[in-house]
Amino acid sequence: MSDISEFMTAEHRECDRLFAEAEAAVAAGDWEEATSRFDAFADLTLLHLRREEEILFPEFEARTGITEGPTAVMRMEHDQMRILLDQMRQALVDRDADAFLGDAETFMILTQQHDMKEEQVLYPMSDQALSVDRGTVLGRMKEI
Ligand SMILES: [Fe+2]
Ligand SMILES: [Fe+2]
Repeated sequence: MSDISEFMTAEHRECDRLFAEAEAAVAAGDWEEATSRFDAFADLTLLHLRREEEILFPEFEARTGITEGPTAVMRMEHDQMRILLDQMRQALVDRDADAFLGDAETFMILTQQHDMKEEQVLYPMSDQALSVDRGTVLGRMKEI
């Protein structure tokens, strides 16, 4: 996998898969399973957000000169995701299925729209702007 688009899109799908497993375990009332599935999901999601915030977005901003555009919106949405992740983690501790599933619904809608914007706009623009350096930047993103 040499381009950013391909790697990061695949990571979105993996996060979706892990999230669906956590949600299914909560719906089934298996709290222990739900907690371990949620931890796996949250760990990968937070890592993904760091790959973007610490490496990809600064590179995008430096190459394009666009600092108040898509990356600013993406950072704001990441903050909303982190709040929802904290709330869902608390709902797991409280064993409150309604609270968890309500936040899960909000998270899913937010993330679907967010991921679509990255996959259709930000990642392709990044691959293009970074040109021959995209492999190096992707390597740094994977090292986090
Ligand atoms: Fe993102
Ligand atoms: Fe992303």
